[in-house]
Amino acid sequence: MKYYLAPMEGITGYIYRSALKDHFGDNIDKFFTPFLVVHEKRALSNKEINEILPENNKGINLVPQILADDADGFLRIDNSLYEYGYREINLNLGCPSKTVASKGRGSGFLGRLSDLEYFLDKIFNNNMCNISIKTRMGEKSVDEFEELMRIFNKFPLKELIIHPRIRYEYYKGNPHRDVFYRYIVKSLNPVCYNGDVRSKRDVEELLKGCGNNLFAIMIGRGMISDPSLIRQLTGGEAFTKEELSVFLKRISDDYSSVFSGEAPVLQKMKELWSYMGSCFADKEPEVKKLLKCRSLKELKLYQMQILQ
Ligand SMILES: Cc1cc2nc3c(=O)[nH]c(=O)nc-3n(C[C@H](O)[C@H](O)[C@H](O)COP(=O)(O)O)c2cc1C
Repeated sequence: MKYYLAPMEGITGYIYRSALKDHFGDNIDKFFTPFLVVHEKRALSNKEINEILPENNKGINLVPQILADDADGFLRIDNSLYEYGYREINLNLGCPSKTVASKGRGSGFLGRLSDLEYFLDKIFNNNMCNISIKTRMGEKSVDEFEELMRIFNKFPLKELIIHPRIRYEYYKGNPHRDVFYRYIVKSLNPVCYNGDVRSKRDVEELLKGCGNNLFAIMIGRGMISDPSLIRQLTGGEAFTKEELSVFLKRISDDYSSVFSGEAPVLQKMKELWSYMGSCFADKEPEVKKLLKCRSLKELKLYQMQILQ
């Protein structure tokens, strides 16, 4: 089984990815960038170039992700990424956020079937990089997935990553794993599962439902909560507090070297702790204080109390 780190805008940028790779990443087969968007005048913004620069992603098998509903814009980024040395890119058909989906992109594109088919026809006839797709099962109902699967099967996808929720479910409730099990056998492309994988037991359950048909598993929140999760799923040990402490220092130092002032660093570290707190049920009061603290000095103090 292959294991991937899911893209998470604001969290799994190059600083986090590099630290994860160096400290817990031996068995992470692929990393994905948070989505890059199509710009009118140039292929990529400076921030996006930083995100994909090979020197910022050393030793990482990275797949840049693109959010687009305009084939020419998508192909401009495809060309530019090819020049940077990339050979695989990912199309985001899953983002449920209102600002994205209401413009008909991300999961909003799933409700525009003929436009989507036209778009895919055009990009698959002119692409430089191989293309994978990360999708939800529909906008309003999982029944929409029948037709979506017919469309996806028309194209030679590098892989089809399925998050078995619909647009309006955001990340809430349980993923529709039963529906996923029904459809995995219908895919002509390799399938990757994504959604609420947090433990070995989750993977075992998934494998029971999929048999030999599953190619890969992508994990987001489970990995931010416990960066050693994929290591554990591939036979390794859970994190030690010392390891986590060194990992977090690396991230905090790297953010401090690129941001001016400590406020943005503090915000990033708190965001990580809003996920990691779940691994420290016995330190709930300290985690709560950390999430409310106002300086990096305070954050480090509570972090020490949590990790001692
Ligand atoms: C804060 C946040 C940011 C995300 N950003 C992206 C993104 O840029 N691209 C994308 O395809 N999915 C994005 N996702 C969705 C995740 O990649 C993943 O599909 C989702 O979290 C479900 O998987 P999980 O249960 O393993 O976390 C984001 C999710 C969250 C919570």
